[in-house]
Amino acid sequence: MTQVTVIGGGMITHDQILPSLYHMQRRGRIGEIAVCSLSSAPLRELANSEILGRAFPGQSFRSYPDLSTPPEESHPDLFREVIVGMPPGNIVVVAVPDQLHYDVIMAALDAGQHVCTVKPLVLKAAEAEIIERKARERGLLVGIEYHKRFDDRSLMARRRYREGRFGEFRLGTACLLEKWYYRESNFQNWCTVENSDAFTYIGCHYVDLVHFITGLLPVSVSVYGIRDRYPNGNEGFLWTDARVIWNNGACLNVQNALGFPDIAPGTNTQGLTMYCAGAGAGALISHSDQYRGLKYAYIDPPEYAEPSPDYFQYVDMGGSGLVPVGYGYRSVEYIVEAAIHLAAEKSVERRREILASIDRDGLMATPANSRYNELVIEAGRLSILNGGRTVCIDYNSNSVHA
Ligand SMILES: NC(=O)c1ccc[n+]([C@@H]2O[C@H](COP(=O)([O-])OP(=O)(O)OC[C@H]3O[C@@H](n4cnc5c(N)ncnc54)[C@H](O)[C@@H]3O)[C@@H](O)[C@H]2O)c1
Repeated sequence: MTQVTVIGGGMITHDQILPSLYHMQRRGRIGEIAVCSLSSAPLRELANSEILGRAFPGQSFRSYPDLSTPPEESHPDLFREVIVGMPPGNIVVVAVPDQLHYDVIMAALDAGQHVCTVKPLVLKAAEAEIIERKARERGLLVGIEYHKRFDDRSLMARRRYREGRFGEFRLGTACLLEKWYYRESNFQNWCTVENSDAFTYIGCHYVDLVHFITGLLPVSVSVYGIRDRYPNGNEGFLWTDARVIWNNGACLNVQNALGFPDIAPGTNTQGLTMYCAGAGAGALISHSDQYRGLKYAYIDPPEYAEPSPDYFQYVDMGGSGLVPVGYGYRSVEYIVEAAIHLAAEKSVERRREILASIDRDGLMATPANSRYNELVIEAGRLSILNGGRTVCIDYNSNSVHA
């Protein structure tokens, strides 16, 4: 049975990746699960997680390094040994900080493993090209987990847009502001000015969605960022405002921050509005992605919340444990199922045909069909480090220039 090794044991592994994999394991779709982290500390948190224990009684993962290893010991290259130690044709899930994705993905492809990576694939288009070439050569999957694509509302908008019901996108706004408390997390150690910024970290979701819905390509980007201090003194671009121009002349404004008030309801604020035009009339797509119609006021602890039933929730479906539901689960499942399907195919030629059809369908983001994401990130980084100047994307040379 297909083995899955997750590299990175942080927030996204706890909140979405590991529970999705545990559920697939419970359903008999995958075999052993391993998690490899920089140190044993996050692995211990995963192993002792109250919600994971309650949802998946009796299930566990193999830890690298071992849980008994002192938490202060760092193992930055252990992932290489762990990946090489897996029989080829299994699955590596990449959930390390953005700037480490490339090394881990290449190690996985070199070892003949299929890959599911959290977004963004990598921070440079040239690296994405190398990954695309290697994956194609070896007939291996690299699926990029942009889970908003698996939100039914995105799929509804995509189908209707492609049927022509909205005409053509003209102007849009999107925002995704995470709570202020994110600044207290491990983010302060890596999401700093030299590595990333609020747009690179979360803005890419809405750029990806606008392409996913419309099929348009971004052609220029400018990102204005405000430098701010994390609690540990590190500096990050914690507030960003981006303007993305598309190949039909449309314009999308994207605002991102680690600054939504902690006392506000929900875990963030986010949404997308697109004004469109055609046949002498205006059209509109407007998605409130954090307020999804639920208002809860709790007694213990006293709290008002507006939870999303759509991203990732645990529900009681009878039996022991809890079942993860939502587009966070569906997205991981879609990529892992595709990898399982490919893993069963011994002919490289046949695997290449399947991969080409995945690229064409465009439901799963792959290095071949979502290069615009890396180009936007690369352009955005160049722009933000140069005071927000406009940076253009050149698809012929796979590069960006100011
Ligand atoms: N909405 C989304 O799609 C979404 C949301 C959150 C995070 N992410 C992405 O997930 C990735 C991780 O984010 P996170 O929030 O879980 O971060 P995090 O800081 O909580 O966790 C990072 C993990 O990587 C591990 N790590 C670091 N270096 C390593 C190495 N050399 N070998 C093995 N493990 C190593 C750390 O030990 C830690 O467990 C980022 O790329 C982020 O952009 C995506």
